[in-house]
Amino acid sequence: MNRVIRFLPLTLLLAVYGCSSEPEDQAMVSRTVNSDPVRAEPVDDPAVRSGEQIYKRHCQACHDPGAGHPATLLLGQKYGAEKAVIKGRQDLNLVYVKTIVRGGLLEMPPFRPTEITDSELDIIAEFILTP
Ligand code: HEC
Repeated sequence: MNRVIRFLPLTLLLAVYGCSSEPEDQAMVSRTVNSDPVRAEPVDDPAVRSGEQIYKRHCQACHDPGAGHPATLLLGQKYGAEKAVIKGRQDLNLVYVKTIVRGGLLEMPPFRPTEITDSELDIIAEFILTP
């Protein structure tokens, strides 16, 4: 009798785990089988944006050529017309561009990994340096 009472908690524990783990496993299998790859990866998933998409969404308003773009205006005043537009500049490098995008620079705001992911950071830096 004593033995039964001593092992009762263990028995109950095993019974509870034994029962609960099976439906959970089944649920996981059915989730995997039923998951629709098209829905799981929406087209606007930030992970799949191209350099051009990132630039248009996050950089172009300030950095496009021409009047009305504050960064172009400021950089032109500071470094001259040939350095006013960042797209295609050959005097910048990947590490510098990525550092500025993450950290910001004076009037330029920093971009968080929730806005531009780490892999997108590489993509946008490559895009900026490409003529
Ligand atoms: C809200 C406006 C704004 C946005 C948006 C913005 N920038 Fe800037 N950026 C600036 C300004 C202003 C400067 C110039 C800062 C200074 O030196 O006075 C600058 C400077 C830079 C520089 C340094 C250029 C140099 O000659 O040293 C880089 C690189 C840069 N931006 C990249 C980007 C990229 C890439 C994006 C998009 C992910 C971006 N910026 C978005 C305003 C912006």
